Amino acid sequence: MLFQNARIENAAPSSFRVEDGKFTAIGPDLVPLPGEETVDLGGKLALPPFIESHVHLDTCLTAGDPVWNMSGTLFEGIECWSKRKDKLSPKDIRERVHRAVRLYAAHGVQFIRTHVDVTDPSLVAMETMVELREELRDTMDIQIVAFPQEGILSYPNGRQLMVDAVRLGADAVGAIPHFEFTREYSVESLNFALELAAKENKLVDVHCDEIDDEASRGLETVAARALELGLYDKVTASHTTAMHSYNNAYVVRLMRLLKMSRINFVSNPLVNTHLQGRMDTYPKRRGITRVKELCEAGINVSFGHDDIFDPWYPMGTGSLRDVVFMGLHVCQMMGYEEIMGAYKFITTNAAKTLHLGEEYGIAEGRPASFIVLDAEHYYDALNTNASVLASYKKGKKIAESTPGVSNTLF
Ligand code: FE2
Repeated sequence: MLFQNARIENAAPSSFRVEDGKFTAIGPDLVPLPGEETVDLGGKLALPPFIESHVHLDTCLTAGDPVWNMSGTLFEGIECWSKRKDKLSPKDIRERVHRAVRLYAAHGVQFIRTHVDVTDPSLVAMETMVELREELRDTMDIQIVAFPQEGILSYPNGRQLMVDAVRLGADAVGAIPHFEFTREYSVESLNFALELAAKENKLVDVHCDEIDDEASRGLETVAARALELGLYDKVTASHTTAMHSYNNAYVVRLMRLLKMSRINFVSNPLVNTHLQGRMDTYPKRRGITRVKELCEAGINVSFGHDDIFDPWYPMGTGSLRDVVFMGLHVCQMMGYEEIMGAYKFITTNAAKTLHLGEEYGIAEGRPASFIVLDAEHYYDALNTNASVLASYKKGKKIAESTPGVSNTLF
């Protein structure tokens, strides 16, 4: 099948051929072979599929059930969740994850990295998610992080639960150093998590310093251990909101280590802006990590949604456009080229975070997975909240939309 007249990643119109689920040719001068089916993409923007690099599918779509978070704070969110947690069952998780995956798919997402709470002796969410990963494989690639919401050393039997979660089939090992009881526990939990990942050949994704406390310095330990254990870009530091509050002299020193370690960063602009800075009066911190400076240093950063309509974040439809839109505002990255290239936070940069390698990207020989947006380039797509007209996964169309039309009557 020949797809014609596509602007691939903001470039001039071009064509690409898909055979047996792979891209077999890409170029401006391709002509249909005898009898070949053609699709005219009308000069619209074609991108590799969107990637959600940080979300919690086990809590999604639970806002208001059984109670709403009235203050909007992290702490009330935890209280709300403790009331909802009693209702967790395989059936409940399956129903919500299926709904969330369909929301994401409608917005052009084909890959999701989900964190799953393993500070639960039953590990019911982890077991269910491992089943769902297989079940949904044809429409959504799901990576699972064993996420110790209540700590590894600070939760009863926390270490063993992490080991069990990895044996059940987690793709990545998590940690939550800023939530551990003490600084010593924090460092030890990171040593444990990264050594477990090295031993079991897993990826790492740490909820790292998700707090406004400038003394929260899990990041330096994550980076140092990633370097020393040779894990490098298999390791990701999510959130790192404390970095917003670090003093500049410390950040300059830290940057050297971050570059040497080659770790990835995931920032969650919607949730970080919503939840951080809550103890401040004025000035009130934005609570987002130093995305602009990390990018300028050549460090890989992707953006995630973190929560979708749950006790911690009361909005969300699975559209990563909202994430990028907020991210550019709050990080002050609204220069022309920054806007035009911002899709990389939820495509190629996120692919590096997820370690997708040759499985991802519009290039000959790779799986023919791509999306078509109702715009000519990403600047317009972002600004107009353009619909995802079509989403193809390995050559098969898995989602489509018809843009709504609004008319002025004057
Ligand atoms: Fe998170």
